[in-house]
Amino acid sequence: MLPFGLPGYTIDFHKGWLFHRGDLPPQQAYWGLLKNGTCNQGGSRYRLDDSQWRQVTLPHDYVVETSVVEGDDTPNTNHGLPEMWTFNQTHNYRGSFQYGPAWYRKRFGTPELPEGGRVYLMFDGIYRASDIYLNDCFVLHHESGYTGITADVTDFLFESQENVLAVRVDATEAEGWYYEGGGIYRGARLVVVPAVHFELFETFVSTKRISPHGLINVKTSICNVLDCESGAELRFTVMDPGGSAVAEGSQAVSLPVYGSAEAQLCFTVPNPRLWTMEDPALYTVKIDLVIDGAAADSVTQPFGIRTAVFDAKKGFLLNGKPVKLKGACCHQDHAGVGVAVPESVWEYRVKALLEMGSNALRTAHHPPAPELMAACDRMGMLVMCENRLLSVSDDNLAQYEQMIKSFRNCPSVVIWSTGNEEEGVQYSEIGRKTALTLKKLSHKLDPTRPVTLAIPLYRWLSSEEEPIDVILPLPDSLDVMGFNYAYFAWNEFTERFPDKPVVITEDTTQSGTRGGIETDGEHAVKADTYEEHEVVIGRLCERWERVDKNPALSGTFLWTGFDYRGETVPYLWPAISSQFGLMDTCGFPKDMYWYFKSLWSNQPMVYFTPHWTLGGIEDKFRGICCYTNCPQAELFINGKSQGVQEREPYRTIVWKDVSYEPGEAAVVGLDESGRKLCEYRCRTAGAPERIMIRLQNVSSPAAGDAAIFEVSVTDGQGTVVPYASNLLSFAVEGGQFLGAGNGDPASHEQDTHPVRRAYGGLCQAIALITEPEFALRVTSHGLQPATYRVEAKP
Ligand code: GAL
Repeated sequence: MLPFGLPGYTIDFHKGWLFHRGDLPPQQAYWGLLKNGTCNQGGSRYRLDDSQWRQVTLPHDYVVETSVVEGDDTPNTNHGLPEMWTFNQTHNYRGSFQYGPAWYRKRFGTPELPEGGRVYLMFDGIYRASDIYLNDCFVLHHESGYTGITADVTDFLFESQENVLAVRVDATEAEGWYYEGGGIYRGARLVVVPAVHFELFETFVSTKRISPHGLINVKTSICNVLDCESGAELRFTVMDPGGSAVAEGSQAVSLPVYGSAEAQLCFTVPNPRLWTMEDPALYTVKIDLVIDGAAADSVTQPFGIRTAVFDAKKGFLLNGKPVKLKGACCHQDHAGVGVAVPESVWEYRVKALLEMGSNALRTAHHPPAPELMAACDRMGMLVMCENRLLSVSDDNLAQYEQMIKSFRNCPSVVIWSTGNEEEGVQYSEIGRKTALTLKKLSHKLDPTRPVTLAIPLYRWLSSEEEPIDVILPLPDSLDVMGFNYAYFAWNEFTERFPDKPVVITEDTTQSGTRGGIETDGEHAVKADTYEEHEVVIGRLCERWERVDKNPALSGTFLWTGFDYRGETVPYLWPAISSQFGLMDTCGFPKDMYWYFKSLWSNQPMVYFTPHWTLGGIEDKFRGICCYTNCPQAELFINGKSQGVQEREPYRTIVWKDVSYEPGEAAVVGLDESGRKLCEYRCRTAGAPERIMIRLQNVSSPAAGDAAIFEVSVTDGQGTVVPYASNLLSFAVEGGQFLGAGNGDPASHEQDTHPVRRAYGGLCQAIALITEPEFALRVTSHGLQPATYRVEAKP
């Protein structure tokens, strides 16, 4: 599902691609062809023999298919990177994967075209520096790996013979300092429109008021590619979330010769169901373009009725009510699939964050996939939508504009971020002017949302001045001041600038390795235990308390929701992924997930660490750390109470003077009067015996869904063996295996191979369901195999 309405009709371009890894140098072109401009004639050649190329389906990330190579970990140019990232080689930025160029080709017939109609080729994202050719003609070059591409290809199409589309991609250069993948990793389609049609990305629906009725404004633009004037009528119908018409109207519009005309529509929705996090109600407006009584074109745009305001005194207000932003910054790669993230995996990630009690997501550090934004709209997740670079080069301005036009109809998006930590310019006159220009552009394209910028404020960068003075007068270029870290300055800033709203664009989680009991740098394991966390939680708790208690601070975005490949803090090779995540690369929770859930979730919850299978490492046991949002909790070891403890606000409960005893530990969350609200039990696991499979995402899967399976190694009773690392093999029937992951930051197993070790007893497999009868079978030497069958809807 796309968050932007499209005119005409679309032809899905996900299937039928051929793929070649590596470059195909231009062949010597004969004289005449050179007139065609930048005519590559390598992989682009119409008559090229591509019979040996591999068939692929989009989304596709070819970098995640490669093996990792030690030392191959820094971008080989500094394209777009602040200087400090190119000389400071302490981390393995791009995850040690092999990037480089590749080619894609696709053959297709010419679509039915109405008289004078146009055909647009559309990609939602290609990583990166793509050159697009159609039928031997050069169509365009697109540098950014993160913004959509739209090209009018009508004149490049054959009418009576097959068309050959070729795309050269080059992922060699970096745009960021993290894993970026490579290839046509988002959606693609043709959009076929009549001669008079709605312009792409020009329909913008915004809420003017929410009471006493919803007052909605729609701006749209109609394009006339005929060389005669035309009169037309716009008729619109508004549907509520249940599909009933709640408003309609019409308006005349006159279209100039070979030009476009803007139109504004305004309507009210009585007693609207407001878009909220609890009830993310989506309305749609369908606009028909009627010429001489007949429908010529139409566009259907989903929207939400809501207001979203950042206030300097009250923080963030959704529909006038204060909401503290409990946010997570997220990069876009997932276990198994890299950056080629299917829609249902996006849903899974958003759900995992929501279940933790998070209500906001920052698309660090670039424009997101449309499917992610659509999921946030449907699921009630607020979004800070971020631009790649704070720059006013033509190309960057175009990227910024494309981002805003793509996502300004999303009720989930409540703020734009013009960039992140632009060390080179952010404190200077250039940074101030650049931010101001982007703010003005933003307001022009979308007057309804404010603009921020994620600015770090490191004390050591300012030897002479007071920290806050370093950034002056930058706040004038922003609607909302954004701080990355710099927690010492938050309250001071709100006092000195009482009229400037503030958001914490980035703060740390100081997370570690999922299930890690002992720090082991050689294997990139950072212990995720109470002992390690005692100091960390002290700091995190102080910061969250500061955000929570100061109404002027609208909220925070933690770095990060999920581990991501690259930027391998805190360890170098053999690590290939970061460990900042509240969850690992699969979305399996780590300790800090439970800590933030205890701070953020409204549902009673209780959890404790370490796990209760410490045989052989009993000496590592120092006590039990319990995460709960209940006023008190009671610990039981093998049924015997170890006492009730009260929880201090923002804190954990720790039982230090208890001993590890195999069997079962349980913690019960209690209310003030000692009534049980929730409990968590953990049993000591025996030896690995069985494999268990659980479908993690879709509740009633359909053909076309990517299903995510948690595969665990358990003992005979079904208790997950937390140290199990058995090698698992996956076989899929009625579908296609996409990839697997296990959250081990130092795993060098190839994601797309149907073989993977469990890590901490767990593994995740992702498969595309293609048939009504789908099955995943998992086997492993010495373990009872398991099969999971899915009856998929057609
Ligand atoms: C921030 C930066 C992030 C990430 C993080 C790691 O300063 O914005 O992209 O690099 O540091 O700590």
